[in-house]
Amino acid sequence: MTSDFSFTVSRTEGAARTGTISMPRGDIRTPAFMPVGTAATVKAMYPQQVRELGADIVLGNVYHLMLRPGAERVAELGGLHRFMNWPYPILTDSGGFQVMSLAKLRKLDENGVTFQSHIDGSRHVLTPERSMEIQHLLGSNIQMQFDECVKLPASDAEVERAMRLSLRWAERSRKAFRAEPGRAIYGIVQGGANEALRIESAKALADMDFHGLAIGGLAVGEPQDVMLAMIETVVPHLPTERPRYLMGVGTPDDLIECVARGVDMFDCVMPTRAGRHGQAYTSEGRLNLRNAKYANDPRPLDENSPCAAGRDYSRAYLHHLVRSEEILAMMLLTWNNLAYYQQLMQGMRDAIAEGRFADFRRRSREIWRKDAD
Ligand code: GUN
Repeated sequence: MTSDFSFTVSRTEGAARTGTISMPRGDIRTPAFMPVGTAATVKAMYPQQVRELGADIVLGNVYHLMLRPGAERVAELGGLHRFMNWPYPILTDSGGFQVMSLAKLRKLDENGVTFQSHIDGSRHVLTPERSMEIQHLLGSNIQMQFDECVKLPASDAEVERAMRLSLRWAERSRKAFRAEPGRAIYGIVQGGANEALRIESAKALADMDFHGLAIGGLAVGEPQDVMLAMIETVVPHLPTERPRYLMGVGTPDDLIECVARGVDMFDCVMPTRAGRHGQAYTSEGRLNLRNAKYANDPRPLDENSPCAAGRDYSRAYLHHLVRSEEILAMMLLTWNNLAYYQQLMQGMRDAIAEGRFADFRRRSREIWRKDAD
């Protein structure tokens, strides 16, 4: 493994832990939330704003970038960091998950996935080797193995087939990965809601020399208690000295409960997507600004917000912008929501460092267990 990737845990409380991943492009403070920058942009945000909110790393997607503008083009233009003006670490997802949710006419076999672009219908092939090549061309700092994720509920036979295929693809991904300075690769645990399959997947990946290990195939239709049970099953089989990344999760309550079970990294479209649909994460819970009850409400979105979007604009004004489908509605609400998420992560890091995470968790749950709107 390359030696310029390191992970140091500085403090633990129960299974929760805080620490730092160090890479040449910068440190990632954990637990970390990675804003999603699918198409080389965190939608409705300037990169500088994303940074100022406290994001140490953003996520990009092989699937979208290979289709438009193309990985070779990004490479010719100097790589994804320069292309999107984000000089800090970037993690890229490997593509299989997005093919399954977005592409048309998919065909999966041992070699990989053949599919049609959702943009122009053109035909493409993704294999573990091509996914690694694309992630290399983009200049990704943390590459993800190519995997297959099944939606839940699914039969044990189907989950087992996908888990075993993902293990074979993990070996091919690891072999195709080019271990150069500033590059790391994570494996992805699969196995649906089946404990034995999850443990087998985790153990096999732990032996495969990945820099970190992700838990995939969750938040795909199962209830939260099933997801949490799977994390409790998997975490004891992951090496303590490597980062653990839960893919595609989640709500503020999910993040807190998963940190409590030993997860170090997250990504999710929730704060950005919700912001584009009139929803705000606040210290009172989630507010739907489209709701008529805000039409005459002069109060700021969130008096306790760390960001100007939450403090300097009234709920009435935001309601008006949302109802009028103004671009500024998306900009302000996305800004507010990412600020909320990053503040939550900082709050968890500080709480673990100071030995008061249990109290932080209890108080946060009071907000997120009740539905605000
Ligand atoms: N994003 C959310 N879940 C998954 C998963 O299981 N695999 C991959 N590659 N990406 C994901």
